[in-house]
Amino acid sequence: MPDTQQFDLIVIGGGPAGYAAAFYGASAGLQVALVEKDTIGGTCLNRGCIPAKAFLETAAVARHVHHAKDFGIEATQAGIDFSVAQNRKQRIVEGLVKGLTGLTRAKKVTYLLGAGSLGANRTVTVAGADGSAQVLQGRYVVLAAGSVPRTIPGFEVGGPIMTSDEVLMLDKVPARMVVIGGGAIGCEFASAFADLGSQVTILEGLPKVLPGLDADLANVVVKSFAKKGIAIKTGAKVTGHTLTPTGGTRVHVEGAEDLEVDAVVVSVGRRPFPDLLGLEGTAVQLSDRRFVQVDEYCRTGEPGVYAIGDLINTPQLAHVGYAEAILVVKDLLGEDPNPVDYTRVPWAIYCHPEVAWAGPDEEQAKAAGYDVVVAKHPFRANSRAQILGEIDGLVKIIAKKNADGTAGQILGVHMVGPWVTEQLSGGYLAVNWEATVAEVAEFIQPHPSLSELFGETVLSLTGRSFNG
Ligand code: NAI
Repeated sequence: MPDTQQFDLIVIGGGPAGYAAAFYGASAGLQVALVEKDTIGGTCLNRGCIPAKAFLETAAVARHVHHAKDFGIEATQAGIDFSVAQNRKQRIVEGLVKGLTGLTRAKKVTYLLGAGSLGANRTVTVAGADGSAQVLQGRYVVLAAGSVPRTIPGFEVGGPIMTSDEVLMLDKVPARMVVIGGGAIGCEFASAFADLGSQVTILEGLPKVLPGLDADLANVVVKSFAKKGIAIKTGAKVTGHTLTPTGGTRVHVEGAEDLEVDAVVVSVGRRPFPDLLGLEGTAVQLSDRRFVQVDEYCRTGEPGVYAIGDLINTPQLAHVGYAEAILVVKDLLGEDPNPVDYTRVPWAIYCHPEVAWAGPDEEQAKAAGYDVVVAKHPFRANSRAQILGEIDGLVKIIAKKNADGTAGQILGVHMVGPWVTEQLSGGYLAVNWEATVAEVAEFIQPHPSLSELFGETVLSLTGRSFNG
């Protein structure tokens, strides 16, 4: 029996939620072990957010070259060598992995490579790929084992059938692509590959793409996608596919003609990955969808054991994982933290045009019983957007209606358009600070800037404005 090493905190899973718990815990003075079976950085860094945004940036460069003439620059698009984009993306990922690995040393976190499983009394066994086993015991354990892509029957991964994991390893742009599932991941890939010259079709099962999005914002995305030549088929039921001799496949859609393509991206959501966590002899419970069940402080049923990130049923966003990591470290230190308010976290989708929001949309605010005042302003009227040549989009703000009919507390800030993922922070603060329209209208925005549109939209809710 190997010796049992003792730690204040053992974190299983080195994705954003897990490494944040380890580093934040270490900076609070805890002795921390971080257990990862693969590569630090998890899905977000290695197979998700970071590589996807790197490809979206390559797509943005292709767009700029395409429109260079509008700016008086003669440029010819000789073609796209996607292997360069692939290598560039990989260098970014590897640099960030190196940075995180360096942080484990700088913060004196014990980094252990292997699959961690939890047993009774907060004992964690780390099984190395070489067959070795190490046993650790923690005063506290954080489970952060993340999620994996969901697939659908008849579309098993292989050849032209891919999930986000495989698409991110492509070294050439498929000429024709079907994206099954028009959620955040599907729309990001559709946008990137359409800008890179693929002929893209999105097949979405529900009546609309980006089903969680405010209808005014979703309409802007749909119109912009149409301009890129992306075909969107909603209410689509895929029934299977037949491989073609050229390495592509024919996708069968109920009641419609087959779609012959070179690549199929299955982006129908992600499922939690508790599969290797053991959990025998513990009171950690899984839901019927295999999420680890937690209370509002991310505590599982087992004393001293927490779960965070995509492993629990909260928004599957890296920055939500970060917030949960801080929450659990503060909780185990007895600092009485505020639970995460999941109704007001920032959301960001990096397709072109980008989408970002915090707080309820118009429909959700009304459904929650609020009497609301709404203002919408288009980027078309914004000077910086015109300078950029990026005029599709709008800012929409939903505020509580005061008894006298004026606009009060800002409930939701929703944006679609150029660089809105970088512009949300003012709106996010307003929503989470529970600021009123009158308060935020006092703040000055730089001119000319894209973020002016947020200021203008708030100003208009006071009943007076410069434009519109
Ligand atoms: P999702 O749940 O956001 O969207 C999946 C879509 O697929 C839904 O619209 C659903 O109706 C559709 N669908 C499901 N089964 C289908 C079928 N058989 N045929 C056709 N359509 C079908 O999942 P997604 O896009 O895979 O993303 C997973 C998670 O990752 C989400 O929670 C998302 O929030 C998060 N994420 C966030 C990003 C961001 O914030 N920028 C980027 C990428 C992912």
